[in-house]
Amino acid sequence: MAAPLSRLSCLGCGATRPIEEALTECPACGGLLEVLHDLASFGRSGREWRDLFDRRRSALPNAETPAFERSGVWRYREHVFPALAPEEIVSKPEGATRLYRSADLGKEVGLARLFIKHEGENPTLSFKDRGMTVGVSWARHLGRTDVVCASTGDTSAALASYAAEVPGMRAVVLLPEAKITGEQLSQALHHGALTLGLATDFDGCMRIVADLARTHPVYLLNSKNPVRIEGQKTIGQEAIHDLGWEVPDWFVVPVGNAGNVSAIGKGIREWLDLGVIGKRPRIAGAQAEAADPFYRSFLTGFAERVTRTADETEASAIRIGAPVSHPKARREIELSNGTVTRVTEAELLEAAALANRHGLAICPNSAVALAGAAKLRREGAIGRDETVVVVATAHAIKFSGAAVRYHGSDARHANPARSLPASLEAVAGQLRR
Ligand code: F0G
Repeated sequence: MAAPLSRLSCLGCGATRPIEEALTECPACGGLLEVLHDLASFGRSGREWRDLFDRRRSALPNAETPAFERSGVWRYREHVFPALAPEEIVSKPEGATRLYRSADLGKEVGLARLFIKHEGENPTLSFKDRGMTVGVSWARHLGRTDVVCASTGDTSAALASYAAEVPGMRAVVLLPEAKITGEQLSQALHHGALTLGLATDFDGCMRIVADLARTHPVYLLNSKNPVRIEGQKTIGQEAIHDLGWEVPDWFVVPVGNAGNVSAIGKGIREWLDLGVIGKRPRIAGAQAEAADPFYRSFLTGFAERVTRTADETEASAIRIGAPVSHPKARREIELSNGTVTRVTEAELLEAAALANRHGLAICPNSAVALAGAAKLRREGAIGRDETVVVVATAHAIKFSGAAVRYHGSDARHANPARSLPASLEAVAGQLRR
């Protein structure tokens, strides 16, 4: 019998399990699992893979084209999740996000070749859709009806929205009460999720949902579930494809629970192994000072796995003190000769304002990566002429409160709204100011 194409493998003890067991942690040691595919068994060269992906990317869709054929995740489907048949895929579609060249913004931060991969242009306005199309499709394949997550607001939005497309499936989301934005909350409510606000922080919700998944017949769809990572790894792959197969020198990524850094790194390693690309980009993780456990761990050379209580920050989606995917993310930073940086609240707010002033619409969490890239440039870790892809993880509009607070302040790029009497003179007077 042929060896199964995909299996689950434990980062902790190395045990492997069949993919169909749908585990979200190692039953032997409790370690993190990852999906490993035997991609060499396809027998295609790097060139042949690139040609296949180029053909898919340039195919013209019509009214009958299924969503997955238009998806920037499933364009790479053999590498994403070969255990799913195309007709089993729940796709909106997702991915195929824009890569912005951001030349003027780059000049302001000293980067001559700055690109922004805008994952906020996904259907639920964050990168989570890339993981959720895989996670919810797999849950349906397995016949799982209750899908659950803890969330700082974006995972819950994506889970609720994808589950809403599957008859009989119910999303159950655990949210740190009053710590996510109203826009994010509205997404879970609109899409019919059982929405539970808990009097704790994200880390508290995460502990409870993990226990729930151990003790109840629910399927966990946080990024601890390795299936999610398979979809998210296409962020980096698609950005390379967007660049006409030019591999950037750096990917800069905001770090919360540390799934996305893990995902982007895994996708790159797989493409290096297959010869799809010939160069290894470096990966930089960026955190907010208020929630910087991964940065603090990095400072110890990863000798220590630091956790902390995360403080309030406008980058509320990455307000996480104990990143679950720390071991995976650490591996990707180390293997890519990458780095981890940290930015202050003022730096992230200014980066968001600057990017959005240049016509982008990136959220405060994304701005942590942009501010991080600028900081690494100033410190000389990133060279002026290096090609840098900043991953913008969600859309500005999901965090409107942060924008309103910023523009109502006396901060450097603040653009406050003005209240006027309803008269032509008053309006015209403002034009002359
Ligand atoms: N940016 C945004 C907008 C996010 O929503 C998240 C994570 C991250 C960055 C960090 O990604 O966790 O893979 O390191 N949000 C999760 C959630 C925790 O529940 O929505 P990560």
